[in-house]
Amino acid sequence: MTRTGTAARFHGHTAADDDVSKRLLESAATLSYDPAAEIDWEAPLPDGHYGLNPEWSTLYGTRLWGEMSEEQRVTLTRHEVCSIMTTGIWFEMILQQMVLRDQYLKDPGSAEFRFALTEIADECRHSIMFARACEKMGVPQYRPSRLIAQAGRLYKATARGELAYGGILVAEEVLDVMQRDWMRGENVLEIVRGTSRIHVVEESRHMKFARQEIRERLRGASPARRRAAATGIAAGAFVIVSSMVHPGVYRAAGLDVERAIAEVRGSEHRRAMMRTSSRHLMAFLAEAGLLTRASTAIYRRIHML
Ligand SMILES: [Fe+2]
Ligand SMILES: [Fe+2]
Repeated sequence: MTRTGTAARFHGHTAADDDVSKRLLESAATLSYDPAAEIDWEAPLPDGHYGLNPEWSTLYGTRLWGEMSEEQRVTLTRHEVCSIMTTGIWFEMILQQMVLRDQYLKDPGSAEFRFALTEIADECRHSIMFARACEKMGVPQYRPSRLIAQAGRLYKATARGELAYGGILVAEEVLDVMQRDWMRGENVLEIVRGTSRIHVVEESRHMKFARQEIRERLRGASPARRRAAATGIAAGAFVIVSSMVHPGVYRAAGLDVERAIAEVRGSEHRRAMMRTSSRHLMAFLAEAGLLTRASTAIYRRIHML
């Protein structure tokens, strides 16, 4: 197996690895979207349409959900989807910086370099798209807590290789499963369906790229390095999953925040949805040797396993 010039000096990037990126580049050239033109940003929002499929609401199936009016459910799901989109923007900003840093001075002739930059361009459009969708739904920014925001700052400044791509993959996989339902939801706002459709298509390439990068970086890695990566990625998953929906969404729907949080914590339906959305990810992590005792314990805690 021949190695491609400069990239090989940074990590064991082979010609076969570069072929994966080449195929992803071809796919990007065939099917990419411009959300500014693709989405009807002027269309009014029908009153009764949800922000996300009710089954994806954090409160669905709880006693509180049963007590809520239809109007409250619509408001809650719109705030929930915007909270997830804002978390998406936050994470896309982190990953753009990590990918850009990872590609620093790498061979511009390699497909890996070119796909990585294509991915950054995609994420840039996605973040603007999510920002516009939230503005359209009239939902203000939900920010992560100070502690979590600082943790994100540390992670984006230091994570590299498998740890960086592992965090990226977690966020992309979890969002992917939800958005596949959102884009098909008949009672879901068209703006959410359309943005989800674009995101699902473009992110499927990002996920392939992240999986490939993780495999490459872990090739021949020592057991200690693999264990460290496993724990680090699981810690990232903990942060991502626990900050996806901001508690402020319950207040916005006129609910008692404490009670809502307690009901979400005790919701068996919610746990099942989390496990469903993590199934592909867990299968990949198992295959990559990233389900260690420590990481498994973390995934169980957040019901991803
Ligand atoms: Fe994205
Ligand atoms: Fe992505």
